[in-house]
Amino acid sequence: CGIVGYIGQKDTKEILLNGLEKLEYRGYDSAGIATLNKDGVNVSKVKGRIAALREAVNENVHATMGIGHTRWATHGAPSRENAHPHQSTTERFTIVHNGVIENYMDVRDQYLADVELQSETDTEIIVQLIEVLNNDLNDVAAAFRKAVELLTGSYAIALMDSEDSETIYVAKNKSPLLVGLGDGFNVVASDSMAALHVTDQFLELMDKETVILRRNGVEILDPNGEKVSREPFTAEIDATDIEKGTYPHFMLKEIDEQPFVIRKIIQEYQNDNDEIKLDPEIREAMKACDRIYIIAAGTSYHAGLLGKQFIEKLANVPVEVHVASEFSYNMPLLSEKPLFVYISQSGETADSRSVLVQTKKLGHPALTITNVPGSTLSREADYTMHLHAGPEIAVASTKAYTAQMAVLAILAVDTARAKDIELDFDPMQELGIVANAMEALTDQKEDLEKLARDYLSVTRNCFFIGRGIDYYVGLEGSLKLKEISYIQAEGFAGGELKHGTIALIEEGTPVVALATQEKVNYSIRGNVQEVEARGANSMIISMKGLDKEGDAFVIPHVHDLLTPLVSVVPLQLISYYAALHRDCDVDKPRNLAKSVTVE
Ligand code: G6P
Repeated sequence: CGIVGYIGQKDTKEILLNGLEKLEYRGYDSAGIATLNKDGVNVSKVKGRIAALREAVNENVHATMGIGHTRWATHGAPSRENAHPHQSTTERFTIVHNGVIENYMDVRDQYLADVELQSETDTEIIVQLIEVLNNDLNDVAAAFRKAVELLTGSYAIALMDSEDSETIYVAKNKSPLLVGLGDGFNVVASDSMAALHVTDQFLELMDKETVILRRNGVEILDPNGEKVSREPFTAEIDATDIEKGTYPHFMLKEIDEQPFVIRKIIQEYQNDNDEIKLDPEIREAMKACDRIYIIAAGTSYHAGLLGKQFIEKLANVPVEVHVASEFSYNMPLLSEKPLFVYISQSGETADSRSVLVQTKKLGHPALTITNVPGSTLSREADYTMHLHAGPEIAVASTKAYTAQMAVLAILAVDTARAKDIELDFDPMQELGIVANAMEALTDQKEDLEKLARDYLSVTRNCFFIGRGIDYYVGLEGSLKLKEISYIQAEGFAGGELKHGTIALIEEGTPVVALATQEKVNYSIRGNVQEVEARGANSMIISMKGLDKEGDAFVIPHVHDLLTPLVSVVPLQLISYYAALHRDCDVDKPRNLAKSVTVE
C-alpha cells in the first residue's frame, strides 16, 4: 500500500491524486482521499484504481490539507468499506495506514470494547484508539503518541483531526515513509516519487519516530518524545523518468531501456584506469567471508540464482540462494563467516527486511544490491551496491533484473581479482557486447509479437525448459508470462520435465526451450524432441553459433556466462505481447503489487 499527505495552500486534491498515481505500483485494489476545509472533512473512496477515484472525488472541494491511500489488500477483501481513509466513530479523526498491526485484536479487546467498528481492518482500530485515548487525555498529540506506543507491527500513518486544520500527525515503524519539504507546504509519502511533482527535498524518518507536520514546519520526535534534528536530502530522481513518454506501457519502455542501463552500469562501476570501481569495504567483506547467502524474492531471487553461478564460477566462493520468506523462519546452518547479500529492486520488500533484521542481530555483515539507494534495505545493511536502472514502474520487473545480473557479474569479477584469481573475462567489455545485443533484440519486436500470437493467444498453460543457466532464465521467463498474461507458466530443468511434468503435455501445449549453452545444446534439443513427440508446440530460443534450422528465435552471440541478460529479453517481449493479445493490464496485473511491504 502507499500513503500520501499534504498541508499547504496549493490544490490539495490534485497533489494527493497525483501522488497516489505515482504510488499505484504499491497496490491498486482500492483507493481513497480525505481533505479538510472549513466545512469539515470530505472522504472519497472507491474499489479499484486511482483513475476511478479521480472520477469519484468532488471537483468543487477546495482544501488546504489532506491524506490519501492506495491499497493492496491484506486484512479484509478489496472493497469500498475496507478502503482507506478510515474514520473514528464521531468522524473527528481520519487516518491512512500502510502496514500490518499485529496486536490489533488485543488493542480492540482492551480499549475498544464499547466502540462499534465499521470495517474489518486493523487500521480502523488505530483511529478508534486515538479517539478513545483523546477522550481521556484531551490532547491529540499525546493521544497519538500513546496510541502509537501501544501498537506492534508495521505502520506508516498519517492522521487528520477535523478540529485542527494546521496539523497532520505522522508515525512510522518498519513501513517506508518520507517527509517532503516545500515553501509554505509540506508533504508526507511512502516514497519520494509520490511527491516529486512538488519538491525534491526530503527528510528520512526512522522507525518509531512520530512527526507533527504543519504548513510551515516539521517536528520529528523520537520514541521518548524528544525533538530530533535532521538534514534533508535531495532526491536524485528526474521527474520525467517516471513518465511513460510516447510508450503505451511502462513495461515496454523499461524493456527498451535495458541497453542504456547496462551501459550506465559499466560507466558507474569503472574508474579512469578502467578498473572496477567499488567500495573497498565491500571488496574486503567479499574476500573475508567463507560463504555468501543471497536473500531475495520474486524476480530478484531469479537474479540471485544467476549471481550464484557468477560468484562460484569466477570467484570460487560458495553461495546459497534463498527465498526471503522461507529463510526467515527456516534458517539453514550457517557457515563461520557468512556474508549476506540482499537483492531487491525496491529495497523495501518486507520478507527480505525481516531476514536482514535477524542476521544483523546475529552480527553478520550485509550488502544490499538495490535500485533505490535510500531504501530501508539499503539503509539498514552495512553496504550498498546501486543498480542505476532508473525508476522501474511496471509491476513486472525487467530492467532491474538484467541490472542485478550485471552488477552481480561485476562483483564476482572484482572478488576474483581481489583473491588473485586469473580470469579470462573482462566484465566491462563483455557487458558492452551484451548491451549491443539487447539493442538488436529490442528492434525485433515484430517477430516476437508474432511468436506471442502464434503460440500464446489461446493457450491455458506454457512450459519453459533449459539446462544449466538457461534453466534459471526459464524460471524468470515463466514468472514474467504468468504475472502479466495469467497463462499458467512453469519453468523446469530440461532433464527434470520427464520425471513428472511431461504428463501435462498435450496436443498443442507450448514449450519454450532455451538453448544458449554449448555443453547442453545437444541434450536440451533432445528434451524438445521428447515433448514434441507428445504433441507439444515447441519454440527454441537459441544463440548465434549454436542455432539450428527451425529455431524460433536466435539471439546474438555473447559470453557464455552472460547469456541470461540477453536471452531474457525475447522472453520479456513475448510475455508483453501475450498479455496485450489477451487484453490484460500489462503494467498493473491483477492481485499483484510491485513493492510488497508486508510479510
Ligand atoms: C513483488 C513484485 C515482484 C518482485 C518482488 C521482489 O512481488 O511483484 O516483481 O520481483 O516483489 O521485489 P524487490 O523489490 O525486493 O526486488
